[in-house]
Amino acid sequence: MRRELICINPTSPARLAVRSVEKPQPGHGEVLVCVQATSVNPIDVKRAAGYGQRLLRLKGAAHFPLVLGNDVVGVVEALGSGVKRFAPGQRVYGLVGTGRAGGAHASHVVVPQDGLLSAPDDADPSALSVLPYSFTTAWLALRSTGIRADNARDARVLIHGANGGLGRLATQVLQSWGSRITAICAKGHRQTCLDLGAEVAVEYGPNCIATLPADFDVVLNFANWDDDALLASRLGAKALGQATTVHPLLANFDRLGWLGGAWASRQDKRRVRTIVVSRAPKARYGWTIFKPDREALEALAQRVNGGRLALPIGAIKPLTQARAAFDHVSAGLPGRAVLLP
Ligand SMILES: NC(=O)c1ccc[n+]([C@@H]2O[C@H](COP(=O)([O-])OP(=O)(O)OC[C@H]3O[C@@H](n4cnc5c(N)ncnc54)[C@H](OP(=O)(O)O)[C@@H]3O)[C@@H](O)[C@H]2O)c1
Repeated sequence: MRRELICINPTSPARLAVRSVEKPQPGHGEVLVCVQATSVNPIDVKRAAGYGQRLLRLKGAAHFPLVLGNDVVGVVEALGSGVKRFAPGQRVYGLVGTGRAGGAHASHVVVPQDGLLSAPDDADPSALSVLPYSFTTAWLALRSTGIRADNARDARVLIHGANGGLGRLATQVLQSWGSRITAICAKGHRQTCLDLGAEVAVEYGPNCIATLPADFDVVLNFANWDDDALLASRLGAKALGQATTVHPLLANFDRLGWLGGAWASRQDKRRVRTIVVSRAPKARYGWTIFKPDREALEALAQRVNGGRLALPIGAIKPLTQARAAFDHVSAGLPGRAVLLP
């Protein structure tokens, strides 16, 4: 049998329960993983409250009771036909997409082989379980701006939300590429950002963005949509681009329906893009949307194998105490939250 954590209906705080269902069978190109650790990301808490339902319904990912979770660490239990990369008993980690099949908050999960990596023998399952989803999103945001290992040296990068999960991972990548990072962080986190590799760190507060220099090559907004336009005004004339993960796409559709949501999103995006291109005519502007991405996973593997990537963990709970892990995330307490199924 598979034990899975379900969100019973869309409410805040989440209404959670553990139920037993038949173990799923892996199909062609899929792997059945016995899950050792998975994580609760901010998106899980939002989705538990009903966020994103209208658009996510298109992917079959909004039907309650809902099994959430994207990060998987575990042991291969069975292989579908055509799987060559993995063998039963092998330790793996990776991602399930947001879709009809449900999430990773379960004792067993079926994952396409492209969504999995071989785990290092000595890796701690909890430490690994907080990386794939956040790293992939941070990587997609970086990629959409056009910054890469071969053009990042000395590039000036502004990160809003630098002490959060995405901010820390982007900082670790950019630091290894030799970029010059300015971190906007929450109160009390300046030193953490400097230790991770930021050249400058400022605490978020009134006027903190407006008083920054307007010469950044890349801007990453992992914190607050309301600041997106102001952040764009900090781009320099030769900037590569700006990416935001906190765009209002899903919320617009939830709030305004299909036509209203599409119209509002178009207007919101155009408003900031206009500022971006007025600052730097060739700069890109993107709204990042998480999806599993092989290139991102391989970049993650390189860093994990080199011991060069980590996020702090603030709560580790069994599936039966998932409520505490969800509360940890929704209260914004420090460190990621891990579930041990
Ligand atoms: N679009 C996508 O597909 C996608 C995928 C992944 C994540 N996301 C979103 O991206 C954001 C970052 O993810 P994460 O995992 O890094 O979250 P996180 O660990 O909670 O970090 C968020 C960071 O933003 C700061 N912040 C939050 N609200 C703010 C506000 N109103 N004004 C200024 N700073 C604020 C936080 O400061 P404090 O420490 O003070 O809270 C923290 O530094 C989240 O909103 C998440 O839901 C989107």
